[in-house]
Amino acid sequence: MAEPLFDTYGRKHDYLRVSLTERCNLRCRYCMPEEGIELSPRKHICTREELLWLIDEFIRLGVKKIRLTGGEPLVRKDAGEIIDALAERPVSLAMTTNAVLIDRHIERLKRAGLTNLNVSLDALDADRFLMMTRRTNFDKVMSNIDLLIREGFNLKINCVVIRGMNEAEIPGFVEWTRNQPISVRFIEFMPFDGNRWQTEKMVSYAEIMDHIREYFSFEKLEDAPNDTTKHYRVPGYRGNFGVISSMTEHFCGSCNRIRLMANGAIKNCLFSDSETDLLTPLRNNEAVEPIIRQAITNKKAKHAGMDNISKQTNRTMTTIGG
Ligand code: 5AD
Ligand code: SF4
Repeated sequence: MAEPLFDTYGRKHDYLRVSLTERCNLRCRYCMPEEGIELSPRKHICTREELLWLIDEFIRLGVKKIRLTGGEPLVRKDAGEIIDALAERPVSLAMTTNAVLIDRHIERLKRAGLTNLNVSLDALDADRFLMMTRRTNFDKVMSNIDLLIREGFNLKINCVVIRGMNEAEIPGFVEWTRNQPISVRFIEFMPFDGNRWQTEKMVSYAEIMDHIREYFSFEKLEDAPNDTTKHYRVPGYRGNFGVISSMTEHFCGSCNRIRLMANGAIKNCLFSDSETDLLTPLRNNEAVEPIIRQAITNKKAKHAGMDNISKQTNRTMTTIGG
């Protein structure tokens, strides 16, 4: 066994987030500009073989958990084959999806044991969904979520809260957990290129809890060690809810994540403006392990070492994959 990937702060990196594609079938305002983004040239995107090779290298270096992200991972043409291949690997497999294409893939996900899904959904109302995503897939997404619940998938719903757009949805999402075994996570709006972030648009953890307190009484649940979510439950409800406070209370101290992007580069932090290319060395038959180790060693204590993450320059979210 190779030595696991520790950074200089003693954090063990055994969780790999893999962005399968930069493309997406929605245009969420907090993620992408209307016109979409400039995509990397095709030859700069990992083939399936290259991606699996890189993933296997991370598994050899101790990665135990893999989450597929995007863009929307299921818009990649060979997403199904990649899922089949990863089902054979000794890792726990999860995916973040907008659920638009779930009905086409559900049998495969069941076969692969890929039952931990995070679904992005920012509104329970069709008009607000259209405003948030600039697309009309609301009914499809809701029927796919129902399907996933019926099939017993373990579902987390990610709801990015933006002032003036969807704060009014918060109580409805909490109410949804009354009869459904889901976990709704409210996410503080984070700045990325092209998403027109402004401080005023961010609804903080404290404010989100204030909104909920107006309608519900709730109790705190225990959070897992590397958890980015603070969990709560309304007593008696089947599901629970939580807040991901990336902006107001960072959780960098327990970060165990590495991000591999569709172009074969890794980022040691979501907020890092630099990335480390693994695809060129792989294509040149050079060893990638030392390059990976160096990237992890370079990882900063928090938020890529920036004092103020709102002043960052970075990629759009859709090329990093959350
Ligand atoms: N701020 C907060 N969360 C975001 N996501 C995408 N962009 C942002 C942003 N600017 C989240 C979405 C999605 C996940 C991949 O990342 O909720 O579920
Ligand atoms: Fe697509 Fe997710 Fe970005 Fe929305 S947040 S545009 S679903 S990648």
